[in-house]
Amino acid sequence: WRPEPVAPGRPGAGIQAIIGQLMTPAGRDDPFPLYAVLHEVGPVSALSNDSFVICGYAAVNQVLRDPGFGLAVDPVSPGSGSDTVRLMNQSILRANPPDHGRMRSLISKVFTPRRVAELRPAIEAAVDDLLAQFSEATRGGTTDFMDRIAFPLPVTVICELLGVPPVDRQRFRPLAADLTGALELSGDTSPAVEAAARELAGYFAPLIRHRQTEPGDDLISALVAARDAGDGRLSDEELLANLILLLVAGFETTTNLLGNGLAILLDRPGLTAALRAGHVPIAGFIEEILRYDSPVQAVTRRAHRDGLTIESVPVPEGSDLILLIGAANRDPARYHDPDRFDPTRTDIRPLSFGAGAHICIGNNLARLEAAVAFPKLLNRFPDLSAASDRTALRRDRLVLRGYQTLPVQAAPRE
Ligand code: HEM
Repeated sequence: WRPEPVAPGRPGAGIQAIIGQLMTPAGRDDPFPLYAVLHEVGPVSALSNDSFVICGYAAVNQVLRDPGFGLAVDPVSPGSGSDTVRLMNQSILRANPPDHGRMRSLISKVFTPRRVAELRPAIEAAVDDLLAQFSEATRGGTTDFMDRIAFPLPVTVICELLGVPPVDRQRFRPLAADLTGALELSGDTSPAVEAAARELAGYFAPLIRHRQTEPGDDLISALVAARDAGDGRLSDEELLANLILLLVAGFETTTNLLGNGLAILLDRPGLTAALRAGHVPIAGFIEEILRYDSPVQAVTRRAHRDGLTIESVPVPEGSDLILLIGAANRDPARYHDPDRFDPTRTDIRPLSFGAGAHICIGNNLARLEAAVAFPKLLNRFPDLSAASDRTALRRDRLVLRGYQTLPVQAAPRE
């Protein structure tokens, strides 16, 4: 599809029109032509006197790393407004200094690279197990990759890490799908979003109480211990908000990394062969998936002091910014031929995990899951192809970009 042209001479109105198109079903389905138009306009565009859209790689990178920009946390008074927003404002994702640093050091302490690396055998076992079931399912014809692999793998891993009973995993998928509506640029706080937040909070409350008396070797126990350390390091609400965030962030995005990656492979049969033959390194493939079709397309920030500039554009204090990570990853000033999928590029470094103070805590884990899953999948199913009887369907989301269903067919190697 083709975006409508930007009205010449009226940049503000033109930018508003592009953002308006980004928020339509067609724009959400394929935002990349709109990103290309934004790049032609410039890396930083004003939507109004105090709101900006940033699409340039260098500009997004600068804002993410500059402590002058932070999260917009508008107070929500108890008894009014959205419970979801109030709860998620207590999480690390929405925290500003000094709360952010306090929470970040607590969570990083229990989420160490070593702990993540130690998960490799468990991830391998989970992938083997899922692929065995996948193999059974494909014998019957078309199978949904999202249902069989992309969702169950990350949810199994994060539940293992958090210490959430395996039987409850299936409950989380629709709840997380609803809750993440709150992360869209429109900030969905519909009754479904609120209900999902309440249900997840109700789910974690007894688990937290249980780990208080019977701690285990899991993240819930470690964060409960941090809360109870006696120096007020984590409040009850913060504990709850961060557990929900870790659960949802732990699988929603990784599910989309796996799905988006497989869709890219299905479109490019030669790539599967090159990966299997070792001509294309798996690490480069994963970084290029992240760049080309980022599971997180946008984050927001607010200018927290006066006198800030981005690429020489003055940004007044209090201005709201939309940082289009997905566009930055396709900035022609940063990447040659940005709309081409090329896992052999050098220096890929996508901004898909953010950058600076809030850089994704789970980035090693997400990369590890993909690095285990794709080689095993390709090895066992070299002829995986898009199903002939059903079409893939994207979720109608801009910020958390992924597939609802990705039907495939395959004949496993015996
Ligand atoms: C933060 C993306 C997987 C936990 C972020 C941010 C991005 C991101 C863009 C920064 C948000 C901002 O700056 O406003 C992704 C992607 C993933 C992924 C693309 C998978 C492909 C995970 C996993 C976990 C996780 C597996 C946990 C197990 C977090 C947490 C934060 C975060 C806790 C907040 C960090 C902070 O605010 O200091 N993620 N994420 N993410 N992510 Fe991820």
